[in-house]
Amino acid sequence: MMRGRTLPLLRPRLGSGRITLASTRNCLNMSQQLRIGIIGMGIGRQNARALAANPRAVVTALCDLEQQRMDEVARELPEPVESFTDYKALCRDSRIDAVFIGSPNQLHVPMGLEAVHRGKHILVTKPLADTEQSAAELVEAAEKAGVVAMMSLSTRFSPAVRHLGATASDGDFGELYYARARSIRRSGIPAWNLGFIQCGGGAFRDMGVHALDAAWWLLGRPEPVSITGVAGARFGPRGMGYWDFKAVSREVYRHYESDDYAGGFVRFDGGIGLQIESFWASHQPPEFQIELFGTEAGARLQPLSIYRTHHHVPHDTTINLPKGPSAWDNIAAHFIDCCLDGVVCEAPVRDGLMVQRMLEALLDSTQKGREVRLDGSRCVT
Ligand SMILES: NC(=O)c1ccc[n+]([C@@H]2O[C@H](COP(=O)([O-])OP(=O)(O)OC[C@H]3O[C@@H](n4cnc5c(N)ncnc54)[C@H](O)[C@@H]3O)[C@@H](O)[C@H]2O)c1
Repeated sequence: MMRGRTLPLLRPRLGSGRITLASTRNCLNMSQQLRIGIIGMGIGRQNARALAANPRAVVTALCDLEQQRMDEVARELPEPVESFTDYKALCRDSRIDAVFIGSPNQLHVPMGLEAVHRGKHILVTKPLADTEQSAAELVEAAEKAGVVAMMSLSTRFSPAVRHLGATASDGDFGELYYARARSIRRSGIPAWNLGFIQCGGGAFRDMGVHALDAAWWLLGRPEPVSITGVAGARFGPRGMGYWDFKAVSREVYRHYESDDYAGGFVRFDGGIGLQIESFWASHQPPEFQIELFGTEAGARLQPLSIYRTHHHVPHDTTINLPKGPSAWDNIAAHFIDCCLDGVVCEAPVRDGLMVQRMLEALLDSTQKGREVRLDGSRCVT
C-alpha cells in the first residue's frame, strides 16, 4: 500500500493551474482513521476496496438504491458497514468524515453539495458534473466549506500516467507543446444505466474525460483558450455499438440523446495544442492512447515508451513498470493524506471544473458549428 507521495504529481507549470489547499480546519488528527461513506455501488466498489485496504481509513457506510448491490460490496469489506438508501441521511451522519460519490453524472453535484454543506470531505468520480454551471456550483461550495474536495481519476492516478508526469516534472521532455489523446471503443456504449446515454451522459463525458484530463495534466494544466470540435451519435440511436456487441431493445436505445463520438482540438495558452478523440463505438480497433510531443523527448502511454534522439540517432525506451499500487490505491492514499495530514490536493474539483469546461465547450462548438473561445471563468463565444 502506497503511503504519502512516492512520485511528484504536481506538474511544473503550476502558475497555469489552480491548486486548492486542504483547510487545516477540517484536517483530522493524524492518529485518527478517516471514516468514509460510499455512495453508488458501481464504481464505488473499486474505490471502497482501495479506501478500506488503506490502514489509515475505514469504510463505515454504503449508500445505494439497491440493497443487493450494497450487500455484495459489504461482503468484500473488512469492517461491518451501515447501509443507507437515502444519501442525505448518510451525509447527516456525524460518524462519517468523508464521502465518495460514484452515482450517475447528474447526481454528483446534488450529492456533493449535501456532503460539503455537512462539512464532509468529498471524493468525486469523473466527470465532476453533467454541466459546467453545476460543476462550478460544487467547486464554490466546497472551497467555501474548506473541506477536501478531490476528483477520483483512475487514468491520471494510474502508474503509467504518473510515471510520465514524473518524467515531465524532471524536465526530461523539455517543453511539452503538443499532445494527442484518444479513447476509442469498437462496441462499448454502456446500456446498464440510462443516465449514460441520456442528456448529461455521452462518450465524451464518460471516456473522453479520462483522455482529456490526463493529457491536460501531463501538459502542465495550461489555460485553455479555444476549442473546436464535432460530436454526434452514429451508432447508439440505431441500436448498434452497445457494450460487447450486445443487442439492446428499442426500449433502451429510443432514450439515446447524447454523443457516441467526439473529436476536437484544444488551443491552450502559450500555443500548446491538444487533439482529443473519444468514441464509444466505431469501426476501428479499440485503443486508449496519449502521445506527448516535447522539445527534448516524446512519449506514448501504451506501450509506455519514451522517444529521444542522441547524437543524431533515435534512442527509444519501452518501460515495464514494476507491479505496485493500482490507480485506485493511489487515489485512496492521496485523498486520505489530504484529509488527515492537510497535504495539498493534487486533483482538486477545480481541475474537474476546468475539464468540464473543456468538455462542454467542445460539445457547444458542435452545436454552433464553429470554434468556441474560453476565458478564465466561463465559456464565451
Ligand atoms: N474509471 C472511472 O473512474 C469510472 C469507471 C466507471 C464509472 N465511473 C463513473 O461512475 C459513475 C457511475 O457509473 P457506474 O458505471 O458505476 O454506474 P452504475 O449504474 O453501475 O452505478 C451507479 C449506482 O448508483 C446508484 N444510484 C443511483 N441513484 C442513486 C441515488 N439517488 N442514491 C444512491 N445511489 C444511487 C445506482 O443504484 C447504481 O448502483 C458515473 O459518473 C461514471 O462516469 C467512473
